[in-house]
This record gives sequence, structure tokens and C-alpha cells, in this order.
Amino acid sequence: MKRLKILAIVGSFRKDSFNRQLALAAKEIIGDRADFEILEYEDVPFFNQDIEHPAPKAVQRVRNTVKSADGIWFFTPEYNHFFPGVLKNLIDWLSRSADDSEPQVLDGKPATISGISPGMSGTGIAQDHLVTLISFLNMDVMNNPRAAVPNAMQQLDSEGRLILSEDSYEFLGDQANSFLNFITKRMGLNDRA
Ligand SMILES: Cc1cc2nc3c(=O)[nH]c(=O)nc-3n(C[C@H](O)[C@H](O)[C@H](O)COP(=O)(O)O)c2cc1C
Repeated sequence: MKRLKILAIVGSFRKDSFNRQLALAAKEIIGDRADFEILEYEDVPFFNQDIEHPAPKAVQRVRNTVKSADGIWFFTPEYNHFFPGVLKNLIDWLSRSADDSEPQVLDGKPATISGISPGMSGTGIAQDHLVTLISFLNMDVMNNPRAAVPNAMQQLDSEGRLILSEDSYEFLGDQANSFLNFITKRMGLNDRA
């Protein structure tokens, strides 16, 4: 059977990002059940229609990486009750097809969202905004379960590394299991189509 490829997109470039660490915890939970890669996209420029064609090398690279993934797992911080601008910029680039011969790479792609914040909201409001955007772009969104992890500061070791509480770990594990099933089911349906 084909090995699933999950691509994690983290909405923070911060070195010690809690969301990046959450993505790494998800990778550990997924284990050998799928390939799990974190997309690096700091080199993607601000979107500007003047430089859209031909697409910058970094954009071509992220488009190809997204295209080859079976599912996208977003890990978003919450900035002012929204998801960060770096993520919106990346998605704006991905929402544009390279040329008229093919759809944009997010079209029909299975997606799920998690996030972690130091506050009580656990990024729930930012996640809702992200759902609106990726649904508009025809991603196939798994809305439930969706880990929204609050109180990051209470889940750090003495060196500031994220050690998820038992509840958070279990919730993330449920999401991982559900997403693997979600993608597998979708692939089955697509095979029959
Ligand atoms: C501009 C800005 C706005 C923020 N707004 C929120 C917010 O609305 N809700 C929240 O829970 N945290 C908010 N925070 C705190 C972030 O959750 C925190 O900085 C978090 O560590 C960012 O994610 P990261 O660790 O993955 O980089 C904000 C931080 C910044 C820099």
C-alpha cells in the first residue's frame, strides 16, 4: 500500500515556536504510519502580481511540495484573533495556479488544523478564520477533531521545551488518527471515481 505523505505547514517562523513544537509532537505521534514533513517557506516573498509569472523559485518549490502531499496539517498561532500574515501570504501564493492548464495545488487536498497559544483560547478563533479561507479554496477540511491547545506556558520543561500535558497529547493523538483515516477514506473514494 502507498505510504501516506503528510505535509505540516506552521504559521510561525519563530525559532522556539510552540506551534512548530506541536507539529513535531504530531510527527512523533504519527510515527511510521506516514511520512511527515514540515514545510520550510521563509524564502517565499511577499505576494505581488508583478512577480507572479514566472513564479519565484521558492514558490515553485512550495507548490510542488504541497502538490505531492496527500494531506496538509496546519499548525497556526493566533495573532489578534487571526492567523499570522506569513501563513496568509503563503496561501495566497498557493491559491494561484502556475498556468491555466492545472488547478491550484490546494484544490481538493485533505486538510486539518491545530494550534497552541499561551492564553486560554488555544488559537480557536484563528483556526475558524483559517477554515473559512481554506474552504473557500476548496480544500477538503476535516473540521473535527481539531486540537486547540491553551496554556502553553504550563506545558514547558525547565529549558522551555514543550512537553504536552496528557490531555493535550491525547487530543492531538485523536486528531492524528482521525486525519489518517480521513485521508485514507478520501483516497479510496478518489480511486473509485
Ligand atoms: C501580534 C501578536 C498578536 C497576538 N495575539 C494573540 C491572540 O489573539 N490570541 C492568543 O492566544 N495569543 C496571541 N498572541 C500570543 C501568541 O499566541 C504567542 O506569541 C505564541 O507564542 C505565538 O506562536 P508561536 O510560539 O508558534 O510563535 C499574539 C502574539 C503576537 C506577536
